[in-house]
Amino acid sequence: MTALPMAGRGEELAAILGAWKQVGDQSQIVVLTGEAGVGKSRLVAEALAALRPRPTRVLAGQARSHAPSPYDWTASALSGHPVEDLPGPADALAWLTQRPDARREFSPGMLLRVAVDVTRAVLGDGPGVLVVEDLHDLDPASLALVAELAATPLPALVIVTSRAPDALAGRVLARLGGTPRTVRRHLGPLSPDEVADVLESAFGTRAGAAAVHERTGGNAFWLTELVAAFRTAGPEALVDAPLPAHLASLVTDRLVGEAPETIRFAHAAALLGGAAALALAAGQTGQAAESAGSAALTPGSARTGDPATSADAPAGGTVDTDAAVHRLVSLGILVLGADGAPGFRYPLTREAIADSVLPAERAALLARAGGPEPHLTGREREVLSCVAAGMTNQQAATSLGISIRTVTVHVSNLLRKTGSASRTEAALWAVRNGYTE
Ligand SMILES: Nc1ncnc2c1ncn2[C@@H]1O[C@H](COP(=O)(O)OP(=O)(O)OP(=O)(O)O)[C@@H](O)[C@H]1O
Ligand SMILES: [Mg+2]
Repeated sequence: MTALPMAGRGEELAAILGAWKQVGDQSQIVVLTGEAGVGKSRLVAEALAALRPRPTRVLAGQARSHAPSPYDWTASALSGHPVEDLPGPADALAWLTQRPDARREFSPGMLLRVAVDVTRAVLGDGPGVLVVEDLHDLDPASLALVAELAATPLPALVIVTSRAPDALAGRVLARLGGTPRTVRRHLGPLSPDEVADVLESAFGTRAGAAAVHERTGGNAFWLTELVAAFRTAGPEALVDAPLPAHLASLVTDRLVGEAPETIRFAHAAALLGGAAALALAAGQTGQAAESAGSAALTPGSARTGDPATSADAPAGGTVDTDAAVHRLVSLGILVLGADGAPGFRYPLTREAIADSVLPAERAALLARAGGPEPHLTGREREVLSCVAAGMTNQQAATSLGISIRTVTVHVSNLLRKTGSASRTEAALWAVRNGYTE
């Protein structure tokens, strides 16, 4: 697949190119923040390609988030660079480049000085570029080095990207951001128009952009992945085809190893919505919870045949629910709305998690939350079973011999009547209520 052109980001790109022009003996700093997949690395890559005059050298390094070791940034930035050419004691260089046989024989201060000297030597007279990707994940030694480099006169543009940082990385980020030589940009999601630009380059049509924007939340990563997955199926699939397994598992893998309470809450929120899941967890669903005996998420609700909702149920309920919500927010799965109710960051995430809930748990959750069943017309029932079978509106129209426009109307009525936020939810509702035969 050929890469899609970058949508939007014109202002940010211009700001980076502007900073490049300012580089002299003093460095200029660009700090790009934004959540996972928003397009930080892509913007850096496009900016590097557009720099004029060309930088004499680009030193780019990143965190190794799974097994951080001291000086990950230096080691990755210098990989492929002949160590013999670098200034400093061989043992210190071995340590900074993470040679397996390296022994640490130097104080942290000494290593930091050598690391600064090495960076300066590699940059030479410049102007060059230092790229620090994913500062939020960097080891403390690399963080100290980045802070030091930003404070040192260097003929370089220093470009730093970061997701939301923890305390230590946050302090470094604040220091970088606090100089008059710094340009900061926070990247938000792509707009509906920018999503349409991407669809147009991929499929030659802007149709469905609003719905695709809604499904992906304008996140560049999800958008790009959907385009890749449905390149041949066409743009309509981006709106309503089920999430391919490899993408769904990117989401559900994030829950692996989490506390049972966290997973239960994620499942409840995916199927019922954040506010209903909270109410259920607090045992406050009134008649619905009472009629079901006890709420699935309240303590002591051990029931046979459903280990997922009874395992490790702690006493207290709501404190644990707060912890679960907090954890899901920090995993980037939920966000807290203005009213304090948790919602999914992206509809896609919700779909993936809802689809992963196994039948027994799903039925139990839906039964506990369920109200009176809505009345569905005969045609609505037919359309609903098409939706539950994973058909697109076009396929449903063909299968039922009615127009796609009529199907669309039925689908929107179905969403309303079943209280579903998406086709996936309506499909789940159909399964639970026996409309799928
Ligand atoms: N403005 C854009 N237009 C089109 N595609 C984009 C845009 N921004 C990013 N992409 C694509 O989206 C995907 C994710 O982008 P990228 O890797 O830059 O995100 P990121 O912010 O660096 O994420 P992470 O925090 O995970 O490193 C990539 O495939 C990238 O090419
Ligand atoms: Mg990145």
